[in-house]
This record gives sequence, C-alpha cells and structure tokens, in this order.
Amino acid sequence: MASSNVLKAEFARPLSDDAELSYTLPSRYYTDPAIYELEKEKIFARSWIFLCHISQVAEPGAYVSGEVADQPVFVVRDRKGELRGYHNVCQHRAHELVQGSGTLKATITCPYHAWAYGLDGALRTARNCENVKGFDKEDFGLKSVRIEELCGLIFVNLDDDAVPLVEQAPGLEADIRAQIPYWDELELTDIYDFGGRPIEAGWKVVVDNYVECYHCAGAHPAFADIIEMSAYEHTIDGITARQLGPQTRPKNTAYDFPEDAIMPRSMFWFLWPINTINVLPGSGDLMVTQVVPMGPTRTAFRNYRFAPKGASDDPKRRDYIENILGVEDMDLCESVQRGLNSRGYDQGRFMVDTARSGEGEHVVHFFHKMVRDALDA
Ligand code: FES
Ligand SMILES: [Fe+2]
Repeated sequence: MASSNVLKAEFARPLSDDAELSYTLPSRYYTDPAIYELEKEKIFARSWIFLCHISQVAEPGAYVSGEVADQPVFVVRDRKGELRGYHNVCQHRAHELVQGSGTLKATITCPYHAWAYGLDGALRTARNCENVKGFDKEDFGLKSVRIEELCGLIFVNLDDDAVPLVEQAPGLEADIRAQIPYWDELELTDIYDFGGRPIEAGWKVVVDNYVECYHCAGAHPAFADIIEMSAYEHTIDGITARQLGPQTRPKNTAYDFPEDAIMPRSMFWFLWPINTINVLPGSGDLMVTQVVPMGPTRTAFRNYRFAPKGASDDPKRRDYIENILGVEDMDLCESVQRGLNSRGYDQGRFMVDTARSGEGEHVVHFFHKMVRDALDA
C-alpha cells in the first residue's frame, strides 16, 4: 500500500494531541506529490465536498457538474423530484457525460457514442447492444455518489460508507441559521474564481492560513480595523470550526457600513476538508467558497456569492474583499509554499494560548491532526 512508504518516516518532532505542545506537520507533507496522491484517496474520496446550491437544481432535469479533486461528478434532479449524484463518466468507454450546468430532457446522453441513461442512472439505450453477446444493460448503470443537503448547500461524497455530514457537523445548520437569520432569503448571484489565477500553494497551505487569525493584525491591517480582534472567537465543533468577530467598527479603513447593517458581525466557517462560508459585516451578501485542490502545490478558489433578495451591491466592500483581503492571503500562501521548500525549515510550533483565544492557532493544530489521522487511516 502506498501509504506505508509515503508516511513511514517518523516526525522529527511530535505532532502531539496537546495543541500547546505540538509541532506542525513536516514540510514534506506540503511538497511531496506522493502525499497529494494519498490525500486524493484518503481525504477527498471520503469527505463531504460542496458542489452547488439547491436553487441550481430545483427543476426536474436540472444538473450541475463539478470535481472532487480529480474526480468528475454531477448532481441532477430526476423526474420524480429526487436529487441524485453520479460520477460524471460514461460506462461505455469513459467519456464525460455532462459539462458545466444546465437542464437535461428525459435522458443523459453521452456525447461520444450516444449511450443514453435515465435520470435514475439506468442505461436505457446503447445502439446495437442487442447484437452484442451477453450484454446486459443492467450491468452498465451510472455509478452513484452520495449527496446531502445542509442549509440548501449540496455536498457530495464519493465514499458509500461515509458518516452522514449532519452527524459529522451536528451543530452547523443551527449555528448558520442563528448567525444569519436571513439565510433563507439569500439568492445565488454569481459563481466566480478570484481573477481566474490559481494560487501557487497547496490546499493545506491555504486551509492553514484560513483557519487562523494570528496573522490578521499584521497581514490584514484593514481587516483588523473592521473587527475588534480582542473579542475574536475561534471554536471547533465536530469537523467544523468557526471564527466569529462579534464586535466590529462601522467606520474603518477597509469600507464603511451602516450602524444598523443587516449583518453587523463577521464569521468564517470551515468545514473539513476544503469547504468554507465567509461573512463580513455590512450589506449581507456572503460567499461559500471551495478551496479547489489542483495538484500538490496549486489551488484555486471557487466562490458562490449569495445576497439577500433585492439587496443592492456594495462595490467598495466587494472590492476590499476580492482585491485586497483575498490578494493579501494569496500572497501569504504563495510565500509559505516557497518557504516549505526551503532546506532551512521543517516543522514549526502552533501559537496556542491556554484560553484558546480567537487569535490563537488551535484550529491549525486541529486541521493538522485531521490530515495526519486521515492519511494514517
Ligand atoms: S463513451 Fe459514452 S457512449 Fe461511448
Ligand atoms: Fe488571512
């Protein structure tokens, strides 16, 4: 098994269960392509990954395709109104079945040799198959993937035996609804990536950076002006973690917002391994962002932007989020990825205080343990 070879070296310094004593994952976890291969098998093929919003697949025949690391998948609403998930691959000779998103009529027809599947995944027609010895259509239905909905967000999981998302993240739905009372009024307004440029840093570097705000005061000065960092909180629940900025300043150097703004707080949810929900104070729009792994040292962001019905855009706020805050983080991550390649570094320490304050790195430790344990499993 690949894992024993890839992982066999002991850590020079322990990644301990005690966050206050632990060292970080060694650099090779961030640079070795064999580790990334193992992550595809042990993490991405077994975890709940955000794919789309329920409004995109509301009508029978509506579908959305996407990837889980390198695995193409799609979800489609069938004729009976049930949502189904499949590997996006034809069972004849492996052409991909659908592209992007859209609406299918009665069947999913492969563009290559026109094998046609029902929306229930059953193979309906395969031209000339009645003349092929021993061919049974029942053997060639689409391979399904698990799907689950949480707060209107559709997640897929390639592992038939995965623990349901709702059990792995038991408090998430209630927490989202408590923090964002207008959640059900939100409409998906656009889907985009940050300028289309990939980040030259691996997905774990990006998540490490996402799950701590120890860097905020220095690296995001305007953010630290919006949010009162001394009141910042960072908590773990199941496979999720939430950063909450309960106190904010409507007048600040990033963008001003009204005292009575619909969203007066900031919050950032992380849902293992690569799903995030991002809320800054002000106009009420938010982003569900997937950290998309594109190889051992390359990542993209896919952002689903939601806004309350009829809300007007706040261009200054949006410019700050996309062109300042987001770019600051990308630059940090790219520098870290270069540094992880240095012969002058292997493992660091987590800055974890006993109070688990919002400026500490206890969630980075939680994430490193999740990675190590998943790869060891
Ligand atoms: S690969 Fe799909 S019909 Fe041949
Ligand atoms: Fe940041």
